[in-house]
Amino acid sequence: MNTEQLKEKVKAYWNSQACGTEFIHQQKFSPAYFQAIEDFRYTTEPEIFSFAQFTRFHGKKVLEVGIGSGTDFLQWVRAGALCYGIDLTEEAVAHTTHRLALHGLMAAEVKVGDAEAIPYYDNSFDLTYSWGVIHHSPDTYKSLAEIVRVTKPGGTIKLMVYHRSSLFAFYSYLKHSLLRGKPWRSVSKTLYYHQESPGTKAFTFKEIKRMLSSLPVDTIQLNAPVTKHDLLYYKAKPWQLIAYGLACIFGWNRTGWFMLIELKKRC
Ligand SMILES: C[S@@+](CC[C@H](N)C(=O)[O-])C[C@H]1O[C@@H](n2cnc3c(N)ncnc32)[C@H](O)[C@@H]1O
Repeated sequence: MNTEQLKEKVKAYWNSQACGTEFIHQQKFSPAYFQAIEDFRYTTEPEIFSFAQFTRFHGKKVLEVGIGSGTDFLQWVRAGALCYGIDLTEEAVAHTTHRLALHGLMAAEVKVGDAEAIPYYDNSFDLTYSWGVIHHSPDTYKSLAEIVRVTKPGGTIKLMVYHRSSLFAFYSYLKHSLLRGKPWRSVSKTLYYHQESPGTKAFTFKEIKRMLSSLPVDTIQLNAPVTKHDLLYYKAKPWQLIAYGLACIFGWNRTGWFMLIELKKRC
């Protein structure tokens, strides 16, 4: 499968079900539906608030790459930023525009767009934000370079990508490969086939540093604190205790599933 074919598969996957809606049973596009999406997201991923720092970007020009069902995008709009949002899928754009209308909020622009060819001029945004997106795109480096290109010199970039040396990635390997009699299948291959859309990647710190080394950015933050996913929040207490023990042994700030990256574009 070439990269264009893979991207079509990624697009079909997220078009069939917008991100963050898989556990939501309320009527599509109703207020209760959007409320349930938001409640679920910030209950399971509360670190988003301290990482994104939405209100710090009041009055700034913000681009979100990969808006999904629009939950974080709404926070940027509510914070008073001038907001632009793109996603590979029409379904994400429909979710986000319905949601804005429901709350009587306005964004500068929400449209279909590819992270690997961002439809904006160089040096346009004070902040470019992307949570859990570019590891789904076949060419992650190209997406990263595009994000840097459209950010203003001196501007901020905030990204989350999946972290391969994490407890969650290890559980995924156990569940989908080792316990299914395929111990030779690597963590990368396991995630490629079993983590959301086909072809999903997860990176090590070293790989990310290598990618960043050729781009005009300074690293402000690069860490991977343990998340609720790593702590098996959805499992029974004994499993959670084991996960807690693993976090104590392997490190609370570097074995989490979400690699948090904050960059400043050089002037
Ligand atoms: C896991 S969801 C994350 C969505 C949102 N950021 C969130 O956290 O809820 C991944 C999203 O990335 C989008 N996506 C994947 N590849 C993309 C690309 N090349 N360009 C833009 N969006 C992409 C998908 O359509 C999907 O909406």
